Amino acid sequence: MSEITRRAVLRGAAGLAGVAALGGLASCSRSTGSVLGPGSDAVATAEAARRVKGGQLVRARLTPRPVTLDLGGRAVRTWAYGETAPGPLLRATAGDVLRVDVGNQLPAATSVHWHGLALRNDMDGVPGMTQDPIAAGGSFRYEFTVPDPGTYFYHPHSGVQLDRGLYGVLVVDDPAEPGRYDKEWVVVLDDWVDGTGRSPDQVLADLQQAGGDGSMGGMAGMDHGSMMGGSMMGGMPGMEGMQSPLLGGAGDIAYPHYVVNGRAATDPVTLAAKPGQRVRVRFVNAGSDTAFRVAVGGHRMTVTHSDGFPVTPVPTDALLIGMGERFDVTLTLSDGVFPLVASAEGKKGRGLAVIRTAPGRRPFADVPVPELSGQTLLGTDLFPSDSVRLERRSTDRRHDLVLGGSMAPYRWTLNGKTFPDSEPLPVMQGERVRLRFVNQTMMFHPMHVHGHTFALTRGGTRKDTVVVRPMQALEVDLDADNPGQWATHCHNIYHAETGMMTTLSYQAQE
Ligand code: C2O
Ligand code: CU
Repeated sequence: MSEITRRAVLRGAAGLAGVAALGGLASCSRSTGSVLGPGSDAVATAEAARRVKGGQLVRARLTPRPVTLDLGGRAVRTWAYGETAPGPLLRATAGDVLRVDVGNQLPAATSVHWHGLALRNDMDGVPGMTQDPIAAGGSFRYEFTVPDPGTYFYHPHSGVQLDRGLYGVLVVDDPAEPGRYDKEWVVVLDDWVDGTGRSPDQVLADLQQAGGDGSMGGMAGMDHGSMMGGSMMGGMPGMEGMQSPLLGGAGDIAYPHYVVNGRAATDPVTLAAKPGQRVRVRFVNAGSDTAFRVAVGGHRMTVTHSDGFPVTPVPTDALLIGMGERFDVTLTLSDGVFPLVASAEGKKGRGLAVIRTAPGRRPFADVPVPELSGQTLLGTDLFPSDSVRLERRSTDRRHDLVLGGSMAPYRWTLNGKTFPDSEPLPVMQGERVRLRFVNQTMMFHPMHVHGHTFALTRGGTRKDTVVVRPMQALEVDLDADNPGQWATHCHNIYHAETGMMTTLSYQAQE
């Protein structure tokens, strides 16, 4: 466990003790007022308001544990939520109560975060912020109302555990949506290193060591604003110059494998259907340091949802998916065998799945897919469905989040500080809040806010994770309607773990 993690946990333990002692009002060292903690009445009240009549109780069990997985001809020792990665597909209908019993069989403490859901704060799964870590051998029951339909996923919020096989998809069905498609496929993308000679913890240690303490060599004191973040990586041992025309610095880590539904491109999964069928594909990027450009050979896709929320449907050749983002698309299948590719953006390598509606040879791992260089959409290019547009109103509060960092030392910052020393972002329940992300680095950061689905001020698309490109600023609006303490961070898990995280912090009314 890194120093940062240890400190975060210690601080969190103190915070949770405060919750208990004050009956829901944890005192906060850094703000003058008091904060609405996970155990506060406001959290219980918000949950009660989410309950709907007729909602079902949906039960599931997750057992994170060490396993050996077959990535397709390559066996790897890793940690997963079962015998496969992704773990079990969880499914509920909006308004249901999901109860998940987690039995931790890992040799380390863990947690489960429900990425993208506007759920009750004490079930958000962030150790040190919303709960104590689930100790090795321990257990925890998550139980919460699932409010909004869409494609979500779950993963640990503990160190760099997400970069192992610990992730799975949660689909929340819409009782009002008839489903204008014949078939549905869940397609999970991941960058894979665990069990290939280095664990994610070793990768993190290597990044920190390569960066030194900042006092040595040619990189001493170098600021990220100028050259760092991908473009410098060419000079670092074992790293490629990972650049993307769309994203700039495309990552810090060259992975040995990129997998789709747990399989490397050399032995891909097959998705079978009949010619002419209309398929809904739910894409989830569960990667830790890789954006994926997805496309289907011989087809155009129509994007219908972004981070679970409907968008004005738009056709495209390819789609760029940052870490933590989800997109749903529909496509009408031709007759034949087609590659579904997930190219590691700005890196060398790709994941592959095979779409089959007829007999025939399966495509090679490196089959050319012209759609990859066709029209390519990002989440920021979309427009929301009218049904999910945020209502117009004036802004009550603004916060700037300046994204910074450096490779030497390896640290990533929000407003110049690293978590847990970063300044929290105070908000009051009922406010319309505008967050302005200002990226002062040469690499992209998929910024994620827990417990809320914000609206981009440009276009209005509802999202919970948005790619902020190098040297760009981007604003989002959210309604502060879900009280608690909410992690807000970069979904590059190595950036988050080395500091690029803070708290959207609801304050108690005086
Ligand atoms: Cu999937 Cu705090 O994130
Ligand atoms: Cu980042």
